[in-house]
Formats: sequence, C-alpha cells, structure tokens
Amino acid sequence: MKTLKIAVIPGDGIGNEVTAEGVKVLDAFAAIKGNIQFEYTYFPWGCEYYLKTGNMMDVDGIEVLKGFDAILLGAVGYPSVADHISLHGLLLKIRQEFNQYINLRPIKLLPGAPCPLKDKGPEDIDFVVIRENVEGEYSGVGGIRFPDRPEETAIQTAVFTRKNTEKVMDYAFKVAQKRNKFNKVTNVTKSNALNYSMVFWDKIFKEIAANYPEIATETNHVDAVSMYFLQRPESFDVLVASNLFGDIITDLGAALQGGLGFAASANLNLEKEFPSMFEPVHGSAPDIKDKGMANPIAMVWTVKMMLDFLLEDEDTEAIIEAITQVLLEGKSLTPDLKGSAKTHEVGDAICEKLKGLLS
Ligand code: NAD
Ligand code: IPM
Ligand code: MN
Repeated sequence: MKTLKIAVIPGDGIGNEVTAEGVKVLDAFAAIKGNIQFEYTYFPWGCEYYLKTGNMMDVDGIEVLKGFDAILLGAVGYPSVADHISLHGLLLKIRQEFNQYINLRPIKLLPGAPCPLKDKGPEDIDFVVIRENVEGEYSGVGGIRFPDRPEETAIQTAVFTRKNTEKVMDYAFKVAQKRNKFNKVTNVTKSNALNYSMVFWDKIFKEIAANYPEIATETNHVDAVSMYFLQRPESFDVLVASNLFGDIITDLGAALQGGLGFAASANLNLEKEFPSMFEPVHGSAPDIKDKGMANPIAMVWTVKMMLDFLLEDEDTEAIIEAITQVLLEGKSLTPDLKGSAKTHEVGDAICEKLKGLLS
C-alpha cells in the first residue's frame, strides 16, 4: 500500500466547497484501486486566519509543508483583506518558496461542456499553457517613492533569470514531444514593447528551440495570441508564457473550455526538491460562496493532475471520462452550466461514474 501525504489548504470562499469534492474523488479513486491511500492534513490558512492572527499562514508554515508529498489548495481571497496581502502571504509565497517554477494549465473542451465560440467543438480546443510561475512580473521587486505626495511614483520590476527561463522553455518543448499533437510550441511574447525582458525571453526561446529541431515553433505577441485564441484555437498545441501573460491568457482559455469551473492547474517543482501544489485556476468567488453553486469540476480535474504528478497510473484518465459522462448526462450540473445541482451532488455523480468505469 502506497501512502501519499497531502497538505490540504481549502482557503477562502468556494475554495472550501470545491476542495471537499476534490478529496471525495481522491478517496473514491483510492478505494477503487486498493493499492494507494491518502493521508490528509488540513491547514485552516487563509483570510479568516489572517483576520484572527495577522498572518495568512503559520510563521513556520513553509517548513511544515516541506514534509508533504503535495499541497492541494482551494482558493485564496476575501473582500475584507487586500488581495496583494492575502495572495503574497499564502499562494504566491508557496509558489516562490517551493520554486514551483512551472504552472501547467490544460485548456481542453470536454464533450458536453459549453463553448462560447460558434462552430468550435472539443476537436478544436485542446492545448496547454506552460506559465512561468515564480518570477517575471510577479517577482515582487519595486517600491513606492514619495508616498501620498504629488511626485508619488510606483515601480514594479520584472525579473527574468537565464536559469529559470531556460528550464521553463525546455519543459514546454518536452511537453510538446510528449503530447505529439502538432509537435509545436508557441512562444507568447511582447518583445515589440518590452525591450529588455521579452527580448531576453525570445532569445532563450530560440536557444532552447535549437535543441528540439523536430518541434515546430511560432512566436506571437500576447495581444495577437489573445485574438488567435478566439479565431483559431485549433492551431495551438503548447504555449509558453511569462507569469503575467500566462495568467491572463489562461482565464481566456478557461472561457474557451466552458468557464472557470473547468480550469485546472499544477504548480510544479519538477526536480521534486519541494512539494508541488495543485489548485484550480479560479478564485474564491465571493459572489457565489456558501450557496452550493460552485462548479467543482476544475478542482476534480486538478486532483487528476496531482495524481499524474505523483503516480504513474493510466487509470487517472477515468477521472476525465467520469466528468465527461456527467456533462453528457446533463443531470448533475451547477448553475454556471445552466443546471440546478449543488456542488456536492456533482462530486457524488463524478464518483459514481468513476466507480462504473474502474470497478
Ligand atoms: P474568481 O475566479 O473568484 O471569480 C470570477 C467569476 O467566476 C465569478 O463570477 C465567480 O462566481 C465565477 N467562478 C469562479 N469559479 C467558479 C466555479 N468553480 N464555479 C462557478 N463559478 C465560478 O475571480 P475574482 O472574482 O477576480 O476573484 C475573487 C477573489 O479570489 C479575489 O480575492 C482574488 O484575488 C482571488 N483569486 C484567487 C485565486 C487563487 O487562489 N488561486 C485565483 C484567482 C483569484
Ligand atoms: C491565478 C491567480 C493568481 C495569479 C492570483 C490570485 C495572484 O489569478 O492563479 O491565476 O495571478 O497567479
Ligand atoms: Mn489568474
């Protein structure tokens, strides 16, 4: 029996509601397989914790998390706590302290999921975004000069290191090899305007591309990529983007696959020096929290990505198949999908389908 130790940080708002469904699916998977088990440790960190203690996580939280095989996170953010405090105190801190330099975000339209583009279907929308995840525009370097004076000036510096950029690019090419779809990597840039950071980014892209002569490349500015997502999503295979651009285009990508209720992500430290973290792309959605309206599919898909990173087991594909069956059946869908099911009912329905597929 293999035991995996999972640190669970449900976080704020719908983070709590969807995390329960992710854990439910993990337990269903383990029960069917019989050869693995999950040992969960829950951490009550987040904005409510901050309002009580003044900290988003325990002071020794990073040390404590080092002992786990993976971290499962719901969402962070609360209207009464400034977002830059809550996110830099927990989510961004974990990404950076654990050098989770890859953010892997699949954009795939499942059969039965609503696509906002007419004439596009599941065969057209199937690509992955590799987002740089620890530096770039999110490096946290900068400051405010002359606060509250007429000369007040804000500086926010983007930092790109050769070592990290090379690793991110290299991973994008390896993913393209493994997917074997078009064997293509699209470099998302903005080097027409950002004459240091993105010119450097393009240079490293070309250097790494030279190691993969069998992989086709294209380089597009991020503004154009945003347009192409809508005009020709079928042309993409793997995209590599900086932290901020990757953030923005993956919400657009989420829309293509049916909304934020479908967008999963993995924050990876490929060398496994530290635990990796798995979380849906969406936030804490204060507008629908505590109503049982949150779509848990993004979290369930996220859990599947966690299993793929921790185990080698082709049966994890059944999780996506189970989601697809629930979508096609149309009975257990949350309001974002024009259904009236509660979050937990969707989780239950996915577990039922999973049992049917794997038992
Ligand atoms: P959001 O993702 O929370 O919500 C955007 C919209 O999508 C809302 O209308 C929401 O109801 C809907 N939505 C999101 N997830 C859904 C789901 N699973 N099912 C159904 N509908 C869903 O983004 P926001 O409103 O910009 O941010 C809210 C808070 O979350 C902020 O504090 C923000 O900083 C934070 N945030 C956190 C994360 C994270 O923890 N990973 C990610 C994004 C935003
Ligand atoms: C995401 C989120 C975060 C990000 C925020 C909440 C800091 O939008 O994971 O996509 O920008 O990385
Ligand atoms: Mn985002």
